Order: sequence, then C-alpha cells, then structure tokens
Amino acid sequence: MVKIAPSLLSADFGCLKDELAAISKADWLHYDVMDGHFVPNISFGYSVLKDVSKVTDLYLDVHLMISEPMKYAGNFIDSKASSITFHYEAIEENKINEFINYLKEHQVAAGISIKPDTDISVLKPYLDSLDLILVMSVEPGFGGQKFDDRALAKIAWLAKMKEEMGYHYLIEVDGGINEETGKLCKDAGVDVLVAGSYIFGSDNYQEKIDSLR
Ligand code: DX5
Ligand code: ZN
Repeated sequence: MVKIAPSLLSADFGCLKDELAAISKADWLHYDVMDGHFVPNISFGYSVLKDVSKVTDLYLDVHLMISEPMKYAGNFIDSKASSITFHYEAIEENKINEFINYLKEHQVAAGISIKPDTDISVLKPYLDSLDLILVMSVEPGFGGQKFDDRALAKIAWLAKMKEEMGYHYLIEVDGGINEETGKLCKDAGVDVLVAGSYIFGSDNYQEKIDSLR
C-alpha cells in the first residue's frame, strides 16, 4: 500500500503542533530544507526538525534542497531524521557512494532526488545501495506547482528495474500531487506520495490523505 507523506512546507507555522496532530494518521512527514542557493527559496533547518520530532511519531523524511548536503547531514541525523535525501545535482559524482555509506552507517535511510530535467539513468550506479529515490515532479523550491508528467516514465523505469534486479529502494514522488496525479503515479509503481498544498490547503486534511491512498 502506498505511503502518504504530507509536506510540512505548506503547513501553518503559527500553529504547528495542531497541524502535526491533524496529519498524525499519515505515514511519513516530508520535511523540505531549502537554503536560498540550491533553490531560490529558504525554508527551515535542523533545529526546527528537533522540535518537530518531539511532537510527532511520523517517520521524518528529510529532503535536502541545499548546496552542501554532506556538510549538514550530521545535524539532521542528530535532530532525529529517519531518512535523508540529497540532490544528485548538488554533489560531486565521486562523493555519492561515500555519502550513501555515511548515511547508512548512521542508521538513517539514504535517498537521492533528481530534478525534472535530470535523466533517471544517471542513478544506475547507485540503485543497488539506495533506500529511497525521490523523483521531482516540479522544479524544487516551491509548493503549489503543476505536476510535470515526465515523472511518470521515471517512476515506471525505477519500478521495472526494482522488479528485474531485486533492488530494495522505495520510489517517492514530490510536487503537484493530488487525487488525480497521485493515481497516475500509483499506476506507474510509486511507493510514497508527497503532498503539500493538496493536504494543507484543504479544510479536511484526513479526507485528503485518505483520497490519496
Ligand atoms: C518542492 C518541495 C515539495 C513541496 C510540494 O520543492 O520539495 O515537497 O512541498 O508541494 P506541493 O504538493 O504543493 O506541490
Ligand atoms: Zn520535497
């Protein structure tokens, strides 16, 4: 069954505890970190994550949209991240295996994300070792954008490789997810649906979570 990961980016930070309580029956909490450099927006960092971890039992799915993910990963691990996903475009190719191993040694799930314009085949050398692959279906940086359906072929390719080769990674999709686009992604073989504005922009979060399942 597909996992649902509400994206905290679209929550109301004036009443964060209530917002977290209202999504407590989801599966994961998607936590978007933006540095104003890798993406043209700034969100929240590891000290907020630590506070969030004290008031939710959800799996903490950290999506690092930052230029130096290796420099800060330890801070997010200390702040109780369950998984850490970094961008393929943000790191030198020859550091990727080292970073995946570092995350695993610290008992967090290791994820890579790719932007919409990046070819999925660049991840081939890492498929065997990754725990999570996050396919971006919008340009990273902002919630509320329209789903880019090039993500569907990437999801289908990852699902096929997983089945053929026996890989263990989960396939996650992020950006523009609602009931309709979520269904397309499920049909393509996705394991985790991230949704921000679709859930937090509604007046009944639980109903929206259920509609994605
Ligand atoms: C975008 C973020 C997403 C964002 C999704 O850069 O990575 O997680 O919160 O928001 P929606 O679901 O509104 O497209
Ligand atoms: Zn995200």
